[in-house]
Amino acid sequence: MARILITSALPYINGVKHLGNLAGSMLPADVYARFQRMRGHEVLYICATDEHGTPAELAAAEAGMDVREYCDREHEVQRRAGEGFSLSYDHFGRTSNPPTHRLTQHFAEVLEAKGLIAERTEKQVYSIDDARFLPDRYVEGECPHCGFERARGDQCDNCGRLLEPTDLKNPYSKISGSRNLEVRETRHLHLLQTKMADRLRAWVDAAEGWPSLAKSIANKWLDEGLRDRSITRDLSWGVPVTKDGAPRPGFENKVFYVWFDAPIGYIGATVEWAEAAGQDWQRWWRAEKGAGDVSYVQFMGKDNVAFHTVSFPATILGSEEPWKTVDRLKAFNWLNWYGGKFSTSEKRGVFMDKALELLPGDYWRWYLTANAPEGSDAQFTWEHFQTVVNKDLADVLGNFVNRILRFAASRFDGAIPDGGAPGAAEDWLYAEVDARLAAIAGHYEAMEFRKAAAETRALWAAGNEYLTRAEPWTHFKTDRDRAALGVRTGVNLARLFALAAHPVIPASAQTIWTALGLSGAPDAWPAGKAADLLGELKPGHAFTPPDVLFRKVEDEQIAEWSARFGGAG
Ligand code: MF3
Ligand code: ZN
Repeated sequence: MARILITSALPYINGVKHLGNLAGSMLPADVYARFQRMRGHEVLYICATDEHGTPAELAAAEAGMDVREYCDREHEVQRRAGEGFSLSYDHFGRTSNPPTHRLTQHFAEVLEAKGLIAERTEKQVYSIDDARFLPDRYVEGECPHCGFERARGDQCDNCGRLLEPTDLKNPYSKISGSRNLEVRETRHLHLLQTKMADRLRAWVDAAEGWPSLAKSIANKWLDEGLRDRSITRDLSWGVPVTKDGAPRPGFENKVFYVWFDAPIGYIGATVEWAEAAGQDWQRWWRAEKGAGDVSYVQFMGKDNVAFHTVSFPATILGSEEPWKTVDRLKAFNWLNWYGGKFSTSEKRGVFMDKALELLPGDYWRWYLTANAPEGSDAQFTWEHFQTVVNKDLADVLGNFVNRILRFAASRFDGAIPDGGAPGAAEDWLYAEVDARLAAIAGHYEAMEFRKAAAETRALWAAGNEYLTRAEPWTHFKTDRDRAALGVRTGVNLARLFALAAHPVIPASAQTIWTALGLSGAPDAWPAGKAADLLGELKPGHAFTPPDVLFRKVEDEQIAEWSARFGGAG
């Protein structure tokens, strides 16, 4: 049994996340966590809301709320949305909670002691009318690279380049719209990443479990040359800056930059979990406490990769303390909305809470896993969604389960019959099941989610093919034993399908499981040979066919949703 620590990129607090965020971090992390738990491993899946920084403050101001109250409310909204999607976090924490604050201050103090943090004077945009500095997204203007007119102080959404507020042309305040701005000097802490370049390069080179996308992004950053980065901001909401445990003189109105504390939130949220559950968080994060045995897997969108392969490791390695670092990193491309982008700030696309009002979480989970933006960007369209869900879930899985259980219930009194010995149809099925189950597990181990879903679908399809070959309907009148064999095997297949389905569509897997008269949950990955697995449910075992497992998505629904949420254009 291995110990596996899993984190998915911490979603920003401002607003419930869209399907693209779900598809590129939380969902695959959950699927992977479920699979590894089924394999019997000790899994800890940690996530949290990323609550600091200008996005949180700006969104709170827009909502006319105090930022802490806003974060309280939005954390709850995101927690509930996660629940609706069956995201099986062991803990869903908050970077605004004390553990992350304490750890952030700890790291900064240790890094300073190691000579990796220095106080420097820098130039920042100051708004005379707002009487404050305008860090990051508090200032907008024209992108110096592409000319986009609403580029933000930290990044241009059009060309994707990272920016400094002072880079913007014709800047204006996001608070008041004022253009009465000037550049003023202000003191900040800088993380001396230039001193870390060799250590980071060696660490990246030694990394083995990263897919090529992650390695190439990390190398690109290292090749471009690391820059010393300011890790504090002129803001009031965030982690206060300390020195020797007390407020740092001259930094009373400053806090740490959100990207400095957010990944530390992975550790902080683990501490929250441990405090609430009476557990030891150090087993998962500190080598001297046993974390050397932990395999740590991170999930994230590609825009987050550099922060996890360079910036956060700079914090961790720079401390020279025995912290756990990432072993395997799974990065995703974008899920696009009709060729364009999903966008939180532009409110374009379907968001997690709204999606759940349309259909249960499993429909989305299946679609987003089967079409994960893995090798390249993926496109969401309503028509594609409808096709995939209707075919895979309703026609293939749902149809199989309903067909076999209804027939068995009506002809064999709702209990598994005894039957004849396996023949050619069963031999074909055993070979098929053995191959598919092994392939699914292999793809999960490799974190190839599209392939895992495709094999799962192929396994279900083999069930329908088996029924066609075994023909219990036809044999019922002439060869009852043979019909009984088909039914016995078919009902056992339904059990196996629930198990194989569990990582991706856990709620539906549970429905099948319960309908089969089984207690507990379908939570142990099937080990052994198909011939044995398909004999687990013995003659006499009683079950009750479920209601329709998956309703088809109708054309009228697609028309209505396209109108409501937009589609093309
Ligand atoms: N909130 C960031 C985003 O949504 C991700 C933060 S990941 C962490 O892009 F490392 F900072 F936690
Ligand atoms: Zn630009």
